[in-house]
Amino acid sequence: MTLDKEETSTSKVAIITGANAGVGYGICQRLLELEGDSMTIVMACRSQTRASNARQKLLAQFPYATIDIILVDIGDVLSVLEFCHQIREKYNHVNYLFCNAGILSALGIKWSRLFFYFLKDPVGLMERSDATIQAMGELNPDGMGRVFACNVFGHYVMMRELEQLLSNSGDGRVIWTSSITAEKASFDIEDWQGLKSLVPYEASKWACDLVAIATNDRFIQEGLNVVSFTTSPGVVASNIGSLPTWIIKARTLIHYLFRLCGVTSQNITGYNGAIADVFVALQPLAAVNYWFRYCSLSNRWGKAYVEAQALEEYDPEIAEKLLQKCELAYQAWKKNPKKKMEEAQEHEAHQADSENLPLLS
Ligand SMILES: NC(=O)c1ccc[n+]([C@@H]2O[C@H](COP(=O)([O-])OP(=O)(O)OC[C@H]3O[C@@H](n4cnc5c(N)ncnc54)[C@H](OP(=O)(O)O)[C@@H]3O)[C@@H](O)[C@H]2O)c1
Repeated sequence: MTLDKEETSTSKVAIITGANAGVGYGICQRLLELEGDSMTIVMACRSQTRASNARQKLLAQFPYATIDIILVDIGDVLSVLEFCHQIREKYNHVNYLFCNAGILSALGIKWSRLFFYFLKDPVGLMERSDATIQAMGELNPDGMGRVFACNVFGHYVMMRELEQLLSNSGDGRVIWTSSITAEKASFDIEDWQGLKSLVPYEASKWACDLVAIATNDRFIQEGLNVVSFTTSPGVVASNIGSLPTWIIKARTLIHYLFRLCGVTSQNITGYNGAIADVFVALQPLAAVNYWFRYCSLSNRWGKAYVEAQALEEYDPEIAEKLLQKCELAYQAWKKNPKKKMEEAQEHEAHQADSENLPLLS
């Protein structure tokens, strides 16, 4: 069931990027469980087929749910701008924006490192991507660091484009899915798009934390009724990193074993991993604090709960610098999207030339 603009003027609206799988799908389930048919879910996904399949599955569980699909490639600024245009056409307000879609660009596993960490710090190994070889220096067709563009900048543009609608709801919330692996040491403001980083994924997740917290100052200054939060889904056995299925399956078994031994980060399912996102969205504002990262955890029997973690390494100066860089890039797109597109196409042609790849039309 989908509603028109007038009908949705009274119901709550939640946008979830990457809603078709993993944590994003878990967010949809939890929202529908708690808010039922008083909420319109907007699945912001890049594949019509994957989104429709996920929508069907949700409708089988929640037959009266109102679920809309609007396609977006979060790593492509023009696609994000078009998505936001469609949202503004369709909805008067947005209550929740879940900045959840994400990628980890993995080239494979470094087996020697895996065995080393398995002996030295097995829990850390299951929580972090230490043994994963991440692609370095990858650019997207817009000419931006690929992982940063998807995990951070696309969501930054979406937030900027939708913040008035979020404010219209009277209590708009932006929820950034960060990670327990995000830490200050992985991020360098001189390489804010993570192009030289060995761990661009972790760098992008720390950038999510910085943007999520620092943005609140501007919301306050501009009198917007919006608060932005950062969360961690813990460890979820999802497809992120696109590792071979047998590795995911073997890893999942170890996750269960560790959880049984009391390692609380092992949420395993998207549903458990989503508890913190939905918690910060639905709690009264007075009960939550945007200076914390809200973490999804599970006890040994698989019962999920939320814990607030102080971000002691948070550096407001670096956060402000990062916001300025994101804002400049956003303004450049806003001022002249055509020119930015031409630049991106030139860049793409250059890349294709040098790599001898077919050009995108
Ligand atoms: N899994 C973990 O242990 C873990 C730990 C810490 C943080 N996280 C974070 O949790 C979030 C969700 O990850 P997950 O574990 O649920 O992984 P997942 O199952 O791979 O889901 C990622 C979602 O993001 C979507 N997505 C990726 N690139 C996109 C793009 N360019 N445009 C639109 N959508 C895009 C995917 O769509 P497709 O299905 O079309 O690819 C998918 O729906 C991510 O931000 C991730 O960094 C996960």
